[in-house]
Amino acid sequence: MLPLIQFDPQRGMPIYRQVYEQIKSAIDSHKLNHGEKLPATRELAGLLGLNRTTIAAAYELLESEGLIRGHVGRGSFVEGPAAQQDSKRLDWETLIPAEESPAGSPSRAGAAKISFASSRPSEMLFPLDEFRATCREVIDSAEAAQILQLGPAGGYAPLRRYLLEEARRQGIARPGDDILITSGCQQAFDLIQRVLASNGETVLLEDPVYPGLRNVFVRGGARVVGVPVSDQGVEIDTLARIIEKERPRLVVLTPNFQNPTGTTMPEASRRAAIVMSRRAGVVVVENDLYGDLRYRGQEIPPLKLLDPLGETVFLSSFSKIAFPGLRVGWAIGPQHFIARLTEAKEASDLHSDQLSQAVLLRFAISGRLAAHLQKMVASGAERLEACVAACAAKLPPMSRFTQPEGGMNVWVKLPEPLDAADLAARAEREGVSFLPGRHFAIARPHTHELRLSFAGLDPQQISTGLSVLGRIFRSELNDALERSGDTHVLV
Ligand SMILES: Cc1ncc(COP(=O)(O)O)c(C=O)c1O
Repeated sequence: MLPLIQFDPQRGMPIYRQVYEQIKSAIDSHKLNHGEKLPATRELAGLLGLNRTTIAAAYELLESEGLIRGHVGRGSFVEGPAAQQDSKRLDWETLIPAEESPAGSPSRAGAAKISFASSRPSEMLFPLDEFRATCREVIDSAEAAQILQLGPAGGYAPLRRYLLEEARRQGIARPGDDILITSGCQQAFDLIQRVLASNGETVLLEDPVYPGLRNVFVRGGARVVGVPVSDQGVEIDTLARIIEKERPRLVVLTPNFQNPTGTTMPEASRRAAIVMSRRAGVVVVENDLYGDLRYRGQEIPPLKLLDPLGETVFLSSFSKIAFPGLRVGWAIGPQHFIARLTEAKEASDLHSDQLSQAVLLRFAISGRLAAHLQKMVASGAERLEACVAACAAKLPPMSRFTQPEGGMNVWVKLPEPLDAADLAARAEREGVSFLPGRHFAIARPHTHELRLSFAGLDPQQISTGLSVLGRIFRSELNDALERSGDTHVLV
């Protein structure tokens, strides 16, 4: 606030200068701070019994020194003390040069009316009434205060017990295993990178792969090597060759409904992957966050269950079945390893939000999660069927697409020379979005491939969206064929 201004006409210093000095001193000593408004010249002149031009002269001098700034019609505002005027602005761009994003990080889902771009559940299917009831039960419970207090780094103990018990019942968790609650699977990737691959170690990932997984390891300085994925999940013979040649630190596999391809590893491949990894001393990380979303076919045992010593690290999360915004996931693995992950987590964020954990636990033990999962499986099955049928009916001839048994994604390979990234831009303009293959690339460019994430759309939207895409793809293909003189094969 502006302190009381005093002046002395006998002092031999012009009065405007005396006013200037006192305001300057108030700014320098932070009695007046950046952004504070000074009284209008007329107002201050009235208060001090001075002529308005005297105050205006003081303000002019302050402004000429950059201590205040006048805005027409709004008045004068404090800029900052003289010392601040001298200090140089930090050059953020030199300090932290813009990083080149790892091969094609996906952009935010655009404003397209029909978006196949995001692998997540539709919020239209969120059971909000049940969720509100669950929150109320948790908040009204005797544990509310404890939930709102800081908790253990490993996670909310009752949720840890529940998930570990479930995993033991399914044969996934072994007697020597422990569990860490993470902020989604994404944080588990990050912690695993810090603990196992922070010194440029070699890490094998599926190619194409979920970009959030690739980016964690690339940013952490790991040497990421891609293992091609076919219709049967990761190509097992190639995996064997790469393990032999590269002797990696770890391999991350998504045996069920891999993102982006939607493919599933058969049991024989799973067994082989475990055997070859064990023989080479490679850590296996199994990402099973889509595992509960099986719509058809037989369930196949997880890698961790097939691992004779049970040393596979198993990751999952609630994100694909309920409320991804709550960010609750978990890692189950040998105690020693989970202890290191827990230390890394504590150093990073102390622990995950306990209210989210307590709500999801309550949601699960009240039976609401199982009821909701049933609905998610029914709607996912319907949506997958609509997507596959629309692909068959609407994509240009010679297109190929995967036939997932669950999950949220179908992977399409368009006939050459179609470039999915070029097509994505045109489709977006026509109100439909998807992510082209290069967003998921490690070594192979996936130029003609694209991912359709169907779970967030209802069957009608899926059919309409694919009609638009089919029309665009055919027209672009015809243009390309005409350019190359191949007019006899127009589609
Ligand atoms: C394969 C895969 N892993 C991990 C994640 C991140 O999951 P979460 O929300 O549990 O962090 C996703 C999200 O799309 C994914 O598709």
